[in-house]
Amino acid sequence: MSELPAYKTIIVTKIDNSAGLKVGQIQFNRPDVLNALNIELMGELLDALQKFDKDGETGCIIITGSAKAFAAGADIKEMATQSAIDMHIRDQFAVWDKIRKIKKPVIAAVSGFALGGGCELSMACDMIVAAESAKFGQPEIKLGVIPGAGGTQRLTRAIGKARAMEMILTGRMYSAREMYEAGLVSRLADDEVFIEEAVALAKEIASMPPIALQMAKDSILKAFDTTIEGGLEYERKAFYLLFASEDMKEGMGAFVEKRKPKWKGK
Ligand code: HXC
Repeated sequence: MSELPAYKTIIVTKIDNSAGLKVGQIQFNRPDVLNALNIELMGELLDALQKFDKDGETGCIIITGSAKAFAAGADIKEMATQSAIDMHIRDQFAVWDKIRKIKKPVIAAVSGFALGGGCELSMACDMIVAAESAKFGQPEIKLGVIPGAGGTQRLTRAIGKARAMEMILTGRMYSAREMYEAGLVSRLADDEVFIEEAVALAKEIASMPPIALQMAKDSILKAFDTTIEGGLEYERKAFYLLFASEDMKEGMGAFVEKRKPKWKGK
């Protein structure tokens, strides 16, 4: 991915990382509608994610919005006139299944509103770094619907049944600090520096051996859809598999030889 594609609804950049691979950044760019997630934006987001996922220069991906909004949800104006059958035929949320298949670590850097599909998208990422001003909510109930892209499932797993019930049944907004304390957000930062914090975290991750990163992400996600026994077995197999990688030989060799490892991503 030497040339970054030009998109209409997102801006993609690559951030250099002297300690390792680059960080791919995707920024939503529909400021007039608080980055509402329309079909075009979701298509471009998936395309950029898949390109970064395949790109040998990229180690970690950041998704971010603007100061006022990460994303204020699915585009209500685009959905408002649809029938159930339109929704079924168009199946616009199917794109989310493909986002889930991205192998590289993805960080949501959230400032301002993360509502509805915006909150769900942040949860579909692997970690959330939030600015103090961020506001999370699942207001779909106020529109006569419910979260449709993982909110009832991911939120419940992240913050527990009672808090997820309150959040989804009232449609209320919650502060970044509340969500940090509830365990949804992994890092809270001042508004002025939150993006630097997210980039620093992404760079740190991008300096790790790529195959091990992917195996670690895959094993952690496995914890959400298997028994403890199945998950432990899966983890063990992934651990053994890493002994086939050149990076495993390099990592352990470098430790023994007291030098810095040089990762190959193989
Ligand atoms: C389309 C939206 C939008 C949305 C805001 N806008 N959110 N357009 N879809 N989700 C538009 C407004 O219509 C307005 O356009 C402009 O953005 C600025 O918004 P305001 O409301 O004027 O801003 P403000 O008063 O600051 O209020 C901010 C807000 C409010 C609290 C975030 O915009 C709001 O409640 N938005 C809807 C949030 C929501 O219900 N999200 C869930 C969507 S359903 P104009 O043209 O009037 O200037 C969903 C289902 C998920 O996400 C399913 C899976 C993907």
